[in-house]
Amino acid sequence: MNTTLDLALECARVTEAAAIAAGRWLGHGDNHRADQAAVEAMRSTLDSLDLHGTVVIGEGERDEAPMLFIGERIGKEGNFEVDIAVDPLEGTNLVARGQPGSTAVIAVAEKGGLLHAPDTYMEKLIVGPTAAGKIDLNFPVRANLRIVADSLSRRIEELTVVVLDRERHRDLIREIREVGARIKMIPDGDLGAAISVAVSGTGDHVVMGTGGAPEGVLAAAALRCLGGEILARIKPRNAEEATRAESMGIALDRVYNTRDLASGEHVFFCATGVTSGDLLKGVQYFAGGARTHSLVMSLQSGTFRFLDTVHMFDRSKIPGVRL
Ligand code: FBP
Repeated sequence: MNTTLDLALECARVTEAAAIAAGRWLGHGDNHRADQAAVEAMRSTLDSLDLHGTVVIGEGERDEAPMLFIGERIGKEGNFEVDIAVDPLEGTNLVARGQPGSTAVIAVAEKGGLLHAPDTYMEKLIVGPTAAGKIDLNFPVRANLRIVADSLSRRIEELTVVVLDRERHRDLIREIREVGARIKMIPDGDLGAAISVAVSGTGDHVVMGTGGAPEGVLAAAALRCLGGEILARIKPRNAEEATRAESMGIALDRVYNTRDLASGEHVFFCATGVTSGDLLKGVQYFAGGARTHSLVMSLQSGTFRFLDTVHMFDRSKIPGVRL
């Protein structure tokens, strides 16, 4: 497997292309076109990579997605064989509404290194490196927040818990309020929040609640690199999803940890901001070019690169490079 710098940076080219394409649809109220732009840009850039992979987390099943569907083969035979998880546009609504916190994301690992999770919901508890190994999804909210607060040598009142703003989280939000922690309710994008809690200085400390299962696997890949932790349980929305999950080998009562979701020893993860969030700036466009901000990580080499990239599309223009 290619463990060189090249693959990590090649992953960045993929998410940069998706972010630049999707960001053009900022505020247009058109989820479909924003997502489609990201998918097409990601798919065509992936083809130029020096790898041969299978999409294990993608845009859905073969019959529902024209490209980046689960099981799709990417790249040329003979190159490095990998599994690929993508979310070309995480937070489609956010882009359509011009709101913060959307990203374009990819994770790559050796074959079998990323769980093939069903496209359903997942209950998640996500923390950064100081609380990793100490939390428990079966503990009450209060106990887990106490553990996180202690791990950061602060009071529970000084924690920020990120929760998707959904009706299903009404009881969870009440419990967090009772314990006294601060809450940031986000309209979408719990994957971006998962990465944020594992990076000090973002001001985010815990993610709690139920969101997409594919986003959970992508979060696990990022958290393997960053030393954070996700504990998760698959939560099907109906009997059909439950049957499908079980047919994929998922145990519905099992708590999956970071390593269960992203077991690879060679994990690459890259996210590029589409709209600005706590961790990444969104795409900025200027005459003849654009500027992107990405986090590129490699588990094996232990590298974390924040890439601030200026892309000149129109070479006849004066390069718009500035600090
Ligand atoms: P997409 O933009 O990829 O559709 O996902 C946005 C998102 O908010 C995820 O971050 C989250 O995990 C999931 O949707 C939550 O699902 P729902 O909107 O059904 O509650």
